[in-house]
Amino acid sequence: MNPEDIEKQAQEDIGKVSNLQELQQVKSKYLGKKGLITLALKEIVSLSPEERREQGAKLNRIKEFVEELLKRAEDRLRREKVEKELSLQWQELTVSLPKYAGAIHPITQTLQRIQDIFVGMGFSVEEGPEVELESYNFDFLNIPKEHPARDMQDTFYVNKEGYLLRTHTSPVQIRVMLSQKPPIYMIAPGRVYRRDDDPTHSPVFHQVEGLVVDESANFKHMKHTIEEFLREFFEADVPVRFRASYFPFTEPSAEVDIGCLVCGGKGCRVCKGSGWLEVMGCGMVHPQVLENCGIDSELYQGFAFGMGVERLCMLYFGIDNIKLFYENDLRFLRQFRWS
Ligand code: PHE
Repeated sequence: MNPEDIEKQAQEDIGKVSNLQELQQVKSKYLGKKGLITLALKEIVSLSPEERREQGAKLNRIKEFVEELLKRAEDRLRREKVEKELSLQWQELTVSLPKYAGAIHPITQTLQRIQDIFVGMGFSVEEGPEVELESYNFDFLNIPKEHPARDMQDTFYVNKEGYLLRTHTSPVQIRVMLSQKPPIYMIAPGRVYRRDDDPTHSPVFHQVEGLVVDESANFKHMKHTIEEFLREFFEADVPVRFRASYFPFTEPSAEVDIGCLVCGGKGCRVCKGSGWLEVMGCGMVHPQVLENCGIDSELYQGFAFGMGVERLCMLYFGIDNIKLFYENDLRFLRQFRWS
């Protein structure tokens, strides 16, 4: 083959190449050990010196030209390959995009909402362990040894003497009073455990505890704090009432009710005809509890409250079975977004 034909042929071949593998083949067809250009260069030894020079220069020019074409083709093919891979990946991303984006669990949403309201009032957020000292869960809170709450029927004990799964978030009050000096304005959200199991009770559920200790903290402050909280939480001017009750760690104690959200107070199945829904327990911290934590009950007064997070969430959204929160059925979970 004469050099001009080789050049023409090479140009054509390189123009047709559509991937890197083919390019490699074309490269060796011309420049490999037995490539057309390589062989043609070898053959010039048989020519006269003059022809050799002329032919050699021509072939070397063609060689450089073909090398340049190959390099350009390689660059182009590599770029195309990367672009193709990227575009495939992009398509994959688009295709696998879920029909429904994830949402925050309604209990987590409720916890966040409760926290936001109290943080807005200047409360700090505290935490305590779920495996708690029996003494912090009961003794420091004035709950005597014979109290039925301590019974194996009500409390989960762990196989370590003196420890249990906390039955309420009130031991966090103790931890904070033992480690901080008043004034104290805190809430403690968290998981608690009880041997309870029916449509409105779960063995694991969440509470938010509140504690204020200050020189003049009084019942009126507590009442106002709780009323403000409930109105913000339920986004409505709900009627609130305080009903005398009993907790060993508060005196006086009260149970807080709101007007039934379903019937507006007329009486229905949800409020069992009473027109009221119980939402939390509260009271003035028992002086003995303050003293147990080294706080002078002559100088300081406190109030505390504790609410069930599942209960508040159920009331807000009109959910009638607590188990729905833990089944992770997406058809249920997808329905809840706070405004
Ligand atoms: N710890 C109580 C309960 O779990 C609630 C409570 C907290 C009541 C603080 C009064 C004060 O039922």
